[in-house]
Amino acid sequence: MLKGKKIILAITGSIAAYKSILLARELVKAECEVRIIMTHAAKDFVTPLTLSTLSKNPVLIDLFEGDAWSNHVKLGRWADVLLIAPLSCNTLAKMAHGICDNLLMATYLSAICPVIVAPAMDEDMWQHPATKSNLKIIELQGVTILPVNKGELASGLYGEGRMAEPESILAFIEQRFFQNTDIKGKQVLVSAGPTFEHIDPVRFIGNHSSGKMGIAIAVELANRGAKVDLVLGPSSNQPNHPAITVYNVSTAAEMYNECIAQFERADAAILCAAVADYTPANIAAEKIKKNGQSLSIELIETEDILKTLGQQKRKGQVLVGFALETANEKENALNKLSKKNADMIVLNSLNDKGAGFGLDTNKITIFEKSGNQFDYEQKPKQQVAKDIVDRVVNMLYV
Ligand code: PMT
Repeated sequence: MLKGKKIILAITGSIAAYKSILLARELVKAECEVRIIMTHAAKDFVTPLTLSTLSKNPVLIDLFEGDAWSNHVKLGRWADVLLIAPLSCNTLAKMAHGICDNLLMATYLSAICPVIVAPAMDEDMWQHPATKSNLKIIELQGVTILPVNKGELASGLYGEGRMAEPESILAFIEQRFFQNTDIKGKQVLVSAGPTFEHIDPVRFIGNHSSGKMGIAIAVELANRGAKVDLVLGPSSNQPNHPAITVYNVSTAAEMYNECIAQFERADAAILCAAVADYTPANIAAEKIKKNGQSLSIELIETEDILKTLGQQKRKGQVLVGFALETANEKENALNKLSKKNADMIVLNSLNDKGAGFGLDTNKITIFEKSGNQFDYEQKPKQQVAKDIVDRVVNMLYV
């Protein structure tokens, strides 16, 4: 099934690099075109000679070989998949922070294909908060992280951190190529993150949205073959996926304008952003100084993006809104479904622990205009995104 696929297998410095020899052999057996990149640290664990013999191509290590320059941009554009296995703690940190100090990092930063990583490290390193936070950063950028296995580790300890087995990595890549393209060819608009409404040059009214939920939806859609226009409010998380075009906006008015512009070509829109309902009537030109008295700021309503798209919706376009509630959840969600002419509302309540702003998990209920109601358990936002996209696919095709 993988015949003819172009795979870059990148190997970093970890004892698990011995498994990459098997991985390279399996990829070649599956009739993939395999190019191998190694970091210098990887050479301490496996030899380039073994890997070049198996892959039938010279192994690439440095940005410069003698007088010649390895064209990492060409390489990044050539591949159907960049697979980094094993992924060491060090390379993970470089990926999270865009440090470009070797051929692998230059290729990663210019790759326009999906990137899949199979981490491998000792359990203490795997559990370290720095590792966890770097994993979150790259996941939000659109990198797929394969789970680690539990077992005996190089240190002699027993625990989590073993690299996934070559057969399961291969099976995962096959599945990514051949099974999850149920929304291929569709254009989807997603809004995510907060909006910031300026009061004066230094202050704003905002909210706690991190953008994680909306970005997870965009990445899930893109991984399943859709082209995504992501309108993203101020967020420290930015996805980097070839099928996602990001439009960074700040205010509710900017988000409104960008969503209206992108909705025209959309087959579906999923509005996950936490948009301000009110904005200051006037923005002070200078920083407001305190004067010992109370201060009132006049607020005016912002445009309702979901409502406007509901009015503009063409036949066949699927419109999904979110409802973030703190009381009368179901009633409020159903009200939004009908008042805004949406096809589906995703309810999350701040009364549920593990749901809502900033967290890595969410707990949702989906209400469809047909009357269907789907209740889900609390899950990581990536899996919640999958549940939402499953329902959107169902609406687009059924
Ligand atoms: O970003 P995270 O930290 O991961 O958190 C995710 C989330 C909690 C922000 C997300 O899951 C969520 O609930 N998003 C919607 C938040 C919200 O503003 O809900 P609402 O009930 O106020 O708005 C209802 C719907 O109208 C939403 O689809 C919203 O995008 C839309 N809206 C609201 C106001 C406005 N002016 N225009 C809009 O389109």
